[in-house]
Amino acid sequence: MMIRTVVLILAAAAVFAAWTAEAGAASGRTLVVFYSLSGNTAAAAKIIQKNLNCDLFELKPVKPYPSNYNEAVDVAKKEQQANARPALQTKEAPGLAGYDNVIFAAPCWWGTFPMLFMTFFEANDLSGKNVTVLMTHGGSGLGRSESDLAKYCPRSKLLKGLAVSGSSVNSSESKIAEWLSSIGIKK
Ligand SMILES: Cc1cc2nc3c(=O)[nH]c(=O)nc-3n(C[C@H](O)[C@H](O)[C@H](O)COP(=O)(O)O)c2cc1C
Repeated sequence: MMIRTVVLILAAAAVFAAWTAEAGAASGRTLVVFYSLSGNTAAAAKIIQKNLNCDLFELKPVKPYPSNYNEAVDVAKKEQQANARPALQTKEAPGLAGYDNVIFAAPCWWGTFPMLFMTFFEANDLSGKNVTVLMTHGGSGLGRSESDLAKYCPRSKLLKGLAVSGSSVNSSESKIAEWLSSIGIKK
């Protein structure tokens, strides 16, 4: 009788542990790593911050991109074709080891992340962390960003990303909040 009770208690504890581990899969501290040329993605990053009360880390290229759209498009195309790694003013996120989740907020450039994110992915240890992408775009949606994230962060757990049209970031607050809840980052 005693043994049966102990076995039952242990089984219940195991089920509870498994359940809490599952429920808390993406909880913990979150860092938003973002870049924005014309402000849309910065606005999205701030909406995430407002929801989670989390930290932001802005990627700042050593050589700024042209503010003229067509010129930026040309530079970005050349960088992607050359598989370039544009230099960042600070390429390592401070205190990264202390974060469980990293959200990459990026504008879509030629179907994926601006190449300066590749510089970041290679300079930081993202292993064991939950990673995801919020991409602002002009029609391409998430493009190739999720598959690139999986490629550059092979030891991370990839959570479902979110595409937000660049022209409607400010009316997407509830969409962003719902996404954060759906992937388990917002409790
Ligand atoms: C260099 C460059 C390349 C772009 N390439 C794409 C693209 O391939 N697909 C797309 O939907 N939008 C593209 N866009 C539009 C941006 O993704 C969109 O305007 C985004 O919201 C800009 O974000 P930001 O204001 O944070 O810079 C491009 C914009 C620039 C400047």
